[in-house]
Amino acid sequence: MTDVFNFAAERGACPFDPPPVYERLREEDPVSRIDLWDGSSMWMVTRHADVRAVLADNSFSADNSKAGFPLLTPSSEALTEDNPTFVRVDPPEHGRLRGMVNADFTMKAAIALRPRIQEIVDGLIDAIEAHGPSVDLVAEFAVPIPSEVICIILGVPYEDHDYFQKCTATMTSVAASEEEVNEASEALTRFLTELIEAKAVLPTGDLLSRLVVERERAGELTRTDVVSMARLLLDAGHDTTAMMISYGMLTLLRHPGQLQALREDPSLLSGAVEELLRYTTVIHTGVPRVATKDVEVGGNLIRAGEGVLCYLPTANRDGDRFDEPDALDIRRKDRGHMAFGFGIHQCIGQPLARVELQVALGTLIRRLPGLRLAVPFEDLRFRHEMFVEGVYELPVTW
Ligand code: HEM
Repeated sequence: MTDVFNFAAERGACPFDPPPVYERLREEDPVSRIDLWDGSSMWMVTRHADVRAVLADNSFSADNSKAGFPLLTPSSEALTEDNPTFVRVDPPEHGRLRGMVNADFTMKAAIALRPRIQEIVDGLIDAIEAHGPSVDLVAEFAVPIPSEVICIILGVPYEDHDYFQKCTATMTSVAASEEEVNEASEALTRFLTELIEAKAVLPTGDLLSRLVVERERAGELTRTDVVSMARLLLDAGHDTTAMMISYGMLTLLRHPGQLQALREDPSLLSGAVEELLRYTTVIHTGVPRVATKDVEVGGNLIRAGEGVLCYLPTANRDGDRFDEPDALDIRRKDRGHMAFGFGIHQCIGQPLARVELQVALGTLIRRLPGLRLAVPFEDLRFRHEMFVEGVYELPVTW
């Protein structure tokens, strides 16, 4: 295998499937050396069992400032934060920081938010119906849901909502220049710094206020730490959930039999969401790590200081783990997918994402039963070259 790793590698006949070149790797050389754009090389792990083993093993570090950590694209270097928070730190610091926000992301907390999420979703569908006859489901539905929800949790005032959404939209847009992205990113940090400043003066009971009152004042976090955590929580759950909503709906539209079954029996909804997560695996870059000691993975010795990419798309389509892995089956019993990762860094927002997806997709299917694509499928623009997979626009009518 001499090609340079490219998560946007050519797709096969079905755009939802992982690049055939990496599917082949899983069958022929599942723990293999592969080159990176900067001339370095890393191990690429493509089987479900091996990915799980690496992510469960704390001998692998998530700290991207460590030597040997694989930087997947030139822009990954720019994303190496000066003040990383828990997604990029190892135990024991990881547990200390994640523990400070855990309680706000439990299943219980997500279920408590369900009525608010339902209100947001209903409001967006009212607006879509009033707008007619077609809309872009990404911009008018999928993006505002996670954005409004995280605003509620963090305590971002509604009147600042548009500004904050504009910053995050620019940051995740490929149409924006590097300068525009940097500007939007700085604007977002400034915005959060001012917001947290205001909460320090007049706490409002939300997560950011509590981080300041309970953690910063106790000397457990600096103000910069609070801002970094706010940024992580805003960034991590935004594009991912928005793409899962829109790409998930598109996947269902491409599987009309399963969509019909779901419409007739809403009790299939939670299983359908799990299957859509597995099937689409929107974090399609995989998750990188670096070994801190020598470890054997799938019969290969990975040495301390060597980078590893846990490639989620092929792991979630591994025939050794899933029956008929390339088929979408909303009644599938095996829920062991790793679309949310695995191990200590496994997605903290997964209960929330599950509730958002269930409410968004369930309500859309119920309220707009005639929902269909407003353009030919072949005209859709897939985001294969973005960190989070999906489509740029999803024009629909009903
Ligand atoms: C469908 C939507 C989502 C998907 C597919 C997703 C996927 C993932 C994955 C694969 C990881 C593991 C990263 C790694 O191991 O390096 C992760 C971590 C994380 N996710 Fe999500 N995520 C989603 C929604 C959310 C939401 C709604 C939030 C809420 C704020 C969130 C916050 C986070 C955070 C903070 C981490 C880092 C956890 C840690 O390092 O301990 N995510 N996510």
